Amino acid sequence: MFLLWNRSFSRNANPAAERTRETLGEDFVRKLDALHDDALRTGLVTTADLQEAYRKSRDTDRDPNKINLWYVLGILAFIMIVTPVFYELITFFLGVRCFLPNNYIVWEATRPISDCGFCRDVSGPKVLQNMTREEFAPYAYSSQPIIIKNAVAHWAAKKILNFNYLKNLYERIPGAIDEDCPFLHFRSDFKSLRDVLAMPSARSNLSAGQTPWYVGWSNCHPTVLEELRKLYPRPHFLPVDAEMPNADYVFIGYEQGVFMHLDYIPRLMWQAQLQGNKSWIVAPTPECDHVCQSFSFYVEPGDAVLVDTRIWYHGSSIPNKGQFALTIQSEYG
Ligand SMILES: [Fe+2]
Repeated sequence: MFLLWNRSFSRNANPAAERTRETLGEDFVRKLDALHDDALRTGLVTTADLQEAYRKSRDTDRDPNKINLWYVLGILAFIMIVTPVFYELITFFLGVRCFLPNNYIVWEATRPISDCGFCRDVSGPKVLQNMTREEFAPYAYSSQPIIIKNAVAHWAAKKILNFNYLKNLYERIPGAIDEDCPFLHFRSDFKSLRDVLAMPSARSNLSAGQTPWYVGWSNCHPTVLEELRKLYPRPHFLPVDAEMPNADYVFIGYEQGVFMHLDYIPRLMWQAQLQGNKSWIVAPTPECDHVCQSFSFYVEPGDAVLVDTRIWYHGSSIPNKGQFALTIQSEYG
């Protein structure tokens, strides 16, 4: 490119070209000329070739199809800013919730690629009978989903917790219902825990003709947490040095369950199935489809289930129509 540029100047006899020639230095220009002539003498290139190469080089810089990194980053930033605003506006003005919370979309778009080691040769959950901490130790940090049958059957929560217990608990603790704890509406039409606990008994019991619902929320209000943890202990099978979060989740409802997703949490997940059966479906990340497989299983009241929900896509449903399900979920690691 520069050779052509130089020659066009060197063969123009106008004063401006001459001045430029002087500025660049005669010696330098002579060497460029010699280099250009040598290239032509090889017979492998012609002046037309060099002109074409120059034209392509110049046009590459102007190619409208060339992807501009700043342009792409700008679009991504725009999506990440506008999507949550759009989501909140829909929620506020229309009173409806998007099917998929926007943070799932952002998380999915930014998650790291799996190496597939976690799911290779896994075709189902490992099913264990209730066992001691020492017996469970070899499985404690497995990437294979695990069911421990009857592991939480002795919990007081299994006998006591139900919709009315939760409603009464929240209503007698000032500020508990409106505490800013995460609330997951899933496929339901509820927008808050207040809406859930205010539903008429016909719907909370799923009487004939009522629409099924399924929701979850964090029991992060300190008094609620304290009261609920009186009904369920730290699972006896977890490693003694395993860290646990400051709050747990309660999931209650009928039929609808939860769409497939990954959890963006710092630790492994455990669930205590306290009422109702729950069907699970787990699937490897899409990039591992060629070496791993999806599978499903179900748990019964009294079972514990442990899944690394950060790496397994997972969804659930309550398979028995009209059956109320209640689950406590937390983390360990
Ligand atoms: Fe999850």
